[in-house]
Amino acid sequence: WLPADRWQDPERIERWRPLLERIEARMELRPEGPGASALQELVGGIKMLTGLSPSLTLKAGSPLLILGSPESAARSSGEWNTLPLAEEAYVLRIKMADEDGNQACPKAEYAILRGGSERGLLYGVFALLRLMGTQPHGPRESDIAEAPRNPLRMIDQWDNMDGSVERGYSGGSIFYRDNRILPESDRIIGYARLLASVGINAISVNNVNVHREETKLITSSLLPDVKRLSDIFGRYGIRMFLSANYAAPLELGGLDTADPLNEDVKQWWRRKAEEIYAAVPELGGFVVKADSENRPGPFTYGRDHADGANLLADALAPYGGTVMWRCFVYDCHQDWRDRSTDRARAAYDHFRDLDGRFRDNVILQIKNGPMDFQVREPVSPLFGAMPQTNQVMEFQIAQEYTGQQRDVCFLVPQWKKSLDFDTFLNGAGSTVKQIAAGKVHPFTRSGVAAVSNIGDDDNWTGHHLAQANLFGFGRLAWNPDLESDVIAAEWSALTFGVDTPAAKFVEELLLESWPVYESYTAPLGVGWMVQPHYHYAVDVDGYEYSKWGTYHFADRTGIGVDRTMATGTGYVGQYAAENRDIYESPAECPDELLLFFHHVPYTHVLKSGKTVIQHIYDSRFEGAEKVERWIARWRELESEADHERFLHILRRLEGQAENAKQWRDVVNTYFYRKSGIPDERERMLYA
Ligand code: GCU
Repeated sequence: WLPADRWQDPERIERWRPLLERIEARMELRPEGPGASALQELVGGIKMLTGLSPSLTLKAGSPLLILGSPESAARSSGEWNTLPLAEEAYVLRIKMADEDGNQACPKAEYAILRGGSERGLLYGVFALLRLMGTQPHGPRESDIAEAPRNPLRMIDQWDNMDGSVERGYSGGSIFYRDNRILPESDRIIGYARLLASVGINAISVNNVNVHREETKLITSSLLPDVKRLSDIFGRYGIRMFLSANYAAPLELGGLDTADPLNEDVKQWWRRKAEEIYAAVPELGGFVVKADSENRPGPFTYGRDHADGANLLADALAPYGGTVMWRCFVYDCHQDWRDRSTDRARAAYDHFRDLDGRFRDNVILQIKNGPMDFQVREPVSPLFGAMPQTNQVMEFQIAQEYTGQQRDVCFLVPQWKKSLDFDTFLNGAGSTVKQIAAGKVHPFTRSGVAAVSNIGDDDNWTGHHLAQANLFGFGRLAWNPDLESDVIAAEWSALTFGVDTPAAKFVEELLLESWPVYESYTAPLGVGWMVQPHYHYAVDVDGYEYSKWGTYHFADRTGIGVDRTMATGTGYVGQYAAENRDIYESPAECPDELLLFFHHVPYTHVLKSGKTVIQHIYDSRFEGAEKVERWIARWRELESEADHERFLHILRRLEGQAENAKQWRDVVNTYFYRKSGIPDERERMLYA
């Protein structure tokens, strides 16, 4: 991503030069290990950015790199050199030349990079390249010590073996075609590099909906290819997982049951695990979607999710494997006439009471919100509510409900909102990010996972700017305290050059984009209103009379879902008292979630001072106008970006403007017709 042409400023290179010409590496170099990748990335990165080819000396020792003069570096003293490091940690010291009196134009003298392991070193190398790409005036003297906050930082591919990608908005799969695993390619290697560059350490390579062909990924005919893929990721310190089909004993084993308590079933999975790990000893384990959206699971046999997850966990345990068991379990055959069933309650109701029953190598994977990756949802009350059960939070980088990589929607601020949320489940400070980091409950495995947004499109992500979401997820998974603007600025600078007008505008646009997307789509947390199945274009009642449990309940007087304990579905009761009290009361509930928790009249006055109906009208007009303003500004920057990217982004923004206009007019007209209340500002509504 580093744009060499933007970087090759001779003055800047001069300042970095002492670090770029000579590298001494101390490590036991294994040809397929992350240490070798670290060296390759460093040398290749320097060459790409500066045209320089550093000389490389290799010595035995712990993972350590010295850039610049080893004689000077040898003088570097203090605990810096001996500090014990966690496996994925690194320390980086950049020392400026003492004799250089010119502070405005300082020069580097040497840099020392130590990794807690080869992987730590690899992360350190990428951090150094990122510094080179983002520091406008050359290196500043710096001592950086970093370790990832989340033990597990995982990406989930929803790729199918026929080459399609479920909820994929950037072309086909880079891994499969025609029910085969593709050979090693620059694309796959490039993906491993992209992910490692932001600290991702695990990937699941097939869709959670495991169909017939993918079920066979754990059979002898495909395991050699699985091993090949795993080796590619292994070079970059990324552990590979497979999504497994809970019904595999039936589909592959010829058994007539998948009952988790049946001895034959247990035996079948044990043998299967033995076979899998003989072929792919480093496999991370399985991701499992069971009893969810018509996928098979333990419910069929009258068993619960602990029984189901433990069956697989016991089979994988001898090999150090982990089961990521998803909690996206709800009734997808709901009767819309039934107002007492609430999909939002489902994960908590199914899982909460199973706390303590899961094996140590099970991790429950919980979507960030209780519904399904909407533009705005509260945090899932299940997260943190099972102190004795490992958990990861699942996000969606693919923009299924947030513009499908046609509309810009930078999701880092949305994810931060979840990560910063205080659950109060173990007193104040029990934030999601602390729980995910394993700091609140005694989790042995935890972290964050996210559904990928990449495909085989030239630019990887359909919309060029959607790359910022992949980058941003990795950066946040590494350090959830990073601010959204810092991440947006890093990505923009690395992509459009340091301090360029294009980079500055893109940074601004990214930061505005989530609120803007929200402002023209479903209002105040109510969600959906999208075309069924496709989930992009507006259809206010698309899901209103469906079986999916996704309703807004708009009538002539009001809108919203009553999830209160007093008069609604009782969902609010799943939160700790501190949050419960806020959500239960329409006066206290934050505006942006009002309609998620309450059914209120259109004339209800928000904290903003506006009525709900006026808010609906105003924000939809503002959102659509904002997109028009982005287009005007982007046009002014034509000479600032390369033509291809300029045009691509322009076309996407124009498409977004059309989409926003359609949402605006459909939503506003719909609510005008329902409520009969006119817009105070008398703008165009289609009566
Ligand atoms: C959403 C999405 C599905 C996906 C599911 C899941 O419902 O639309 O395509 O399979 O989430 O997370 O399992």
